[in-house]
Amino acid sequence: MVARNELLIETVGLTRIYGDGNVKALDNVNLRISSGELASIMGPSGSGKSTLLNMLGALDQPTSGSVIVAGHDLSSLKDVDTFRARTVGFVFQLHNLLPTLNARENVEVPMMGHAGAAERRARAEELLKIVGLADRMDHLPSQLSGGQRQRVAVARALANNPPLVLADEPTGNLDSESGLDLIRLIHELNDSQGTTFVLVTHDPAVARQTSRVIVMADGRILREDIIGSPLQEDLKMWQHSGLGRRILSGEMEELKKLNLSKKQVESVKELLESS
Ligand SMILES: Nc1ncnc2c1ncn2[C@@H]1O[C@H](COP(=O)(O)OP(=O)(O)O)[C@@H](O)[C@H]1O
Ligand SMILES: [Mg+2]
Repeated sequence: MVARNELLIETVGLTRIYGDGNVKALDNVNLRISSGELASIMGPSGSGKSTLLNMLGALDQPTSGSVIVAGHDLSSLKDVDTFRARTVGFVFQLHNLLPTLNARENVEVPMMGHAGAAERRARAEELLKIVGLADRMDHLPSQLSGGQRQRVAVARALANNPPLVLADEPTGNLDSESGLDLIRLIHELNDSQGTTFVLVTHDPAVARQTSRVIVMADGRILREDIIGSPLQEDLKMWQHSGLGRRILSGEMEELKKLNLSKKQVESVKELLESS
């Protein structure tokens, strides 16, 4: 395990050139992400977001530069499969759920070869409960909504309890409400399990929910926005709303209606009490 706030990911001069050299998908990317972060990557189509995520998950090799994840230098991995199984969970659109397996069986797949049948089953059931699908374990992917399928994919990504989860546009196919539900779930998992998430998104509303937004263009990191707390921005808005005034006047019940995680409610309380 990697302790919270320790360096989890470090890329140095990471470069990926495709073909005969005319496409620099990644151009000298230097990135450090600590364990426990919830970071998002934004940028136009073709800016290198997926290529970067693939590099972090050892799904692709750099042309030059290095990637270190949880102390492993990915260029000298002896056993890439074990690294992927133990260290990284993937929520990628290409990694769709297997259509002939039910939700529980899909979550068990990454544990094959790493845990016995009883343990796999118990862990899959536990994870499906965590993502709010206790009553959908026996459903096939075709019997689930898009949002539910993505929840199964998140549960599957967590199967081997990896310190890092990489998600490539996890809310891409969801309506905005299901998308925000999924981000809330990711927040909760980030809070409760300390799992580090790096997610690619096109949706500014999703990025605003993360603590760090990495903006890419032309294979480079263009800029980074550290969002101290997305909640503080929200608070500024609330202070001018009827709801905000009710919260400020101590009607904490109102907060519960906003569907915030426990940690968020606590930090709102703290902020309000300190202001
Ligand atoms: N397998 C590949 N072969 C050739 N070029 C590729 C390949 N994968 C990606 N690219 C190119 O690399 C650039 C970055 O792609 P990608 O990382 O998929 O961008 P994004 O995820 O930000 O849309 C694009 O110009 C894309 O066309
Ligand atoms: Mg992409």
